[in-house]
Amino acid sequence: MQNSLVIVLLAGCSVMAVQPADVVRFSMEETKAKEQTNGVDISREETKGRKPKLLGSFQWKNCGSPSKELMVVESLSIAPDPIAIPGTIKINFTAVFNKTVDAPLQVDLKLEKEEFGFWIEVPCIDNLGSCTYSDLCESLSQATCPLPFVQQKVPCKCPFNKGSYKLSNASFNIPTSGVPTGNYRITANLSVKGVFVGCYYIAATLTD
Ligand SMILES: *[C@@H]1O[C@H](CO)[C@@H](O)[C@H](O)[C@H]1NC(C)=O
Ligand SMILES: *[C@@H]1O[C@H](CO)[C@@H](O)[C@H](O)[C@H]1NC(C)=O
Ligand SMILES: *[C@@H]1O[C@H](CO)[C@@H](O)[C@H](O)[C@H]1NC(C)=O
Ligand SMILES: *[C@@H]1O[C@H](CO)[C@@H](O)[C@H](O)[C@H]1NC(C)=O
Repeated sequence: MQNSLVIVLLAGCSVMAVQPADVVRFSMEETKAKEQTNGVDISREETKGRKPKLLGSFQWKNCGSPSKELMVVESLSIAPDPIAIPGTIKINFTAVFNKTVDAPLQVDLKLEKEEFGFWIEVPCIDNLGSCTYSDLCESLSQATCPLPFVQQKVPCKCPFNKGSYKLSNASFNIPTSGVPTGNYRITANLSVKGVFVGCYYIAATLTD
């Protein structure tokens, strides 16, 4: 279910939050990547030629085919939009697991940030950015599930049992972290041993 995705995002946020040194490197590398590409091999797409502009509108969509997926997100909403950092983010979601999903849960993550009107792929550095995680289950096994997950009996670790899950009014604090503000988009493709679990795309804006 969506849980995995939220966890990916939250894990991303919290990892960034607790590892300021990495964040600094992350943003430095990102700048470097921008300079290196120098407008050559970066995607131009819809923002071409425009000044950076905050999207301010959270978007998500399925980027696979829901009829073939084991994890189907039915709804997902956040507030506030844009997401203020530091701050509190509220999330609602409902999702269905058609089958129990267990290790090894591979996640292919593509993270992009808008820079001067271009979408720049954030490289994978120290396990942050556009990374492939060979087993999210292993990464989550040591995690402390956020309170709303525990309270609402939504799993945050493997196995994700077959069933429907709903998270309502869940609040998460995003501490000051040094994460650069701006427009981000993320594509997360999940699979277990080559079996497609789900693919989700999210666009969101982080602001001060
Ligand atoms: C999974 O469940 C969704 C929603 O109930 C359904 O649309 C989809 O066809 C199912 N996928 C599989 C592979 O069973
Ligand atoms: C979540 O759902 C509740 C109840 O339906 C609603 O009041 C709230 O505004 C929703 N929050 C978000 C972030 O969508
Ligand atoms: C979520 O919060 C809204 C307003 O704060 C409230 O009306 C709603 O009942 C809450 N929903 C749940 C499921 O707690
Ligand atoms: C997601 O992964 C599956 C294989 O697991 C692949 O067929 C598909 O093209 C990928 N989709 C995206 C959007 O990357």
